[in-house]
Amino acid sequence: MNAPVTVVMTADAPGDDRGNNRGDDQGDAWSVPLDRIDVSNPHLYQDDTWQPYFARLRRDDPVHYTKDGMYGSFWSVTKYKDIMQVDTSQTVFSSDAMLGGIVIRDVPMDFRRPSFIAMDPPKHDEQRKVVAPIVAPMNLQKLAGTIRERAARILDDLPRGETFDWVDRVSIELTTQMLATLFDFPFEQRRTLTHWSNVATVNTRAGTEIDSEPKRDAVLQQMLTYFTKLWHERAQQPPRPDLISMLAHGEATRDLPSRPHEFLGNLILLLVGGNDTTRNSISGGVLALNRFPDEYRKLRQNPALVTSMVPEIIRYVTPVIHMRRTAVEDVDLAGKRIRKGDKVVMWYISGNRDEDAIERPDDFIIDRARPRQHLSFGFGIHRCVGNRLAELQLTILWEEILQRFPTIELMGEPTRSYSNVIHGITSMPVRIPA
Ligand code: HEM
Repeated sequence: MNAPVTVVMTADAPGDDRGNNRGDDQGDAWSVPLDRIDVSNPHLYQDDTWQPYFARLRRDDPVHYTKDGMYGSFWSVTKYKDIMQVDTSQTVFSSDAMLGGIVIRDVPMDFRRPSFIAMDPPKHDEQRKVVAPIVAPMNLQKLAGTIRERAARILDDLPRGETFDWVDRVSIELTTQMLATLFDFPFEQRRTLTHWSNVATVNTRAGTEIDSEPKRDAVLQQMLTYFTKLWHERAQQPPRPDLISMLAHGEATRDLPSRPHEFLGNLILLLVGGNDTTRNSISGGVLALNRFPDEYRKLRQNPALVTSMVPEIIRYVTPVIHMRRTAVEDVDLAGKRIRKGDKVVMWYISGNRDEDAIERPDDFIIDRARPRQHLSFGFGIHRCVGNRLAELQLTILWEEILQRFPTIELMGEPTRSYSNVIHGITSMPVRIPA
């Protein structure tokens, strides 16, 4: 067992900052003093060792205060019902970027970029209304044909009998193609969108070239320049059903370029919202079916189970690990006194494993009675705009997979993102039998 050492580390490089939350001895999660547990440590997600820490918190201290953690002091809300309460109490728990926004990390003021996910009503509601039609039933119907055609092409091009990276060849490719469609972005340049999305979300301690906010900003400014040009073109044309045109013509958003921080914030939201999340659900589904081979057999015997499997994948993966709020008044939550100004973190990844809300929550079960009962899309006024589109993409992909491949075999361990926001798989070797 690890000797108790302080969990709070200040190292900049990954590898130095695991603290007590080390993955090499999970027994530690049950014996370490509660005040040493810091579930904001991205290593927990990169090493895939988060489960026992949250199980401990749910059992012993469901609304838990971390003082001086890796990302400051914050409350962790870990039970399903308490997360629902925070997520649906927007008058008490604010999303406002200027108060701290929606992620645990306090972004330096100069780099805060408001977007409607990081706003409270009424501004949030006005801006959300502008882009919501992108996922109206009629538009989804139109998109379904495009998704099926593209999924089929991607799958038909995959090698047989040899190991390849599922993340790059399928998950990234399909979601990037979708993004290019949603933005009506030049199709051949679509991987630029992936690059921008990666830059926007990467943790500056993850060991990539984006190791500071100014470096991130430099790339994002290029993105802003590109989209500003596209915006002006679209603003002069009649409205079209793509996100840029919708923003350029929307009553609450047509002046966005005059507020570059907010313009950039909304671009990032729409880029990342529909990209990393769906991408990781695509990868996570293949992984889960390999970890639960009986479920894979069940699926092959009855492909109609795709309908209930898709929401189960989204629950099981929980692509967004947490969302943060800031209390705007003193409030009691599950017996704890939260003070005005406190940072409150809803750990969706934990709520989705709450045994009081979901039966056998650690198991991947593709025919659950109520598969949509999960927290992965959030709740309340910020509930994911794109949830039906995400489900549509996954459903079509799995329908097409089942028509082609008896199995997709996992050939090694996946690598995961160093992040406490995006539950990401960065690569995953698989093989399709020849
Ligand atoms: C499996 C896939 C996805 C997951 C797990 C996911 C998850 C989430 C979560 C957790 C939130 C915040 C909810 C809250 O605070 O209560 C959110 C909001 C949002 N998502 Fe998604 N998302 C997914 C796919 C998409 C797609 C495909 C799009 C793009 C069309 C999208 C666009 C958005 C937007 C714009 C918001 C902000 C909504 C608001 O603030 O009103 N998401 N999503």
